[in-house]
Amino acid sequence: MIAVASDHAGYELKEKIKAYLIDNGFAVEDFGTNSTESCDYPVFAKKLCQAVQSGKCEKGILVCGTGIGMSMVANKQKGIRAAACSDYFSAKFTRMHNDANVLCLGARVIGEGLACELVDVFIKTDFEGGKHQRRIDMFE
Ligand code: RB5
Repeated sequence: MIAVASDHAGYELKEKIKAYLIDNGFAVEDFGTNSTESCDYPVFAKKLCQAVQSGKCEKGILVCGTGIGMSMVANKQKGIRAAACSDYFSAKFTRMHNDANVLCLGARVIGEGLACELVDVFIKTDFEGGKHQRRIDMFE
């Protein structure tokens, strides 16, 4: 199960990402928001992170204007390793080296096509483990 959530700035891109995931055979749980009406991104970041922490969802995708506010909130939640990415290499290597479990995207930074590519590689790339697990253990 993949969790998705956004604030008002990320709402439209979150809906497109949700459709992309469903079209590609993934089960998706949507933690809001449900419109472009102004709201507070920490509310939605925390809801999504709780679903990842509990194991209900294996990974999460958070969308706000920049991806940065969402990543700041997510990285304060225990066991969450969130990465704000706007390029393919980072989305891939944050899985391989950081075992990131939440991808944060900026709807005012990147377009739908790139966003879906980043989601795709983030979900499909495995963690390498080994020395990278040791480094994660040093900060978890
Ligand atoms: C909302 O205007 C904007 O501040 C928010 O979406 C996000 O970019 C914060 O980091």
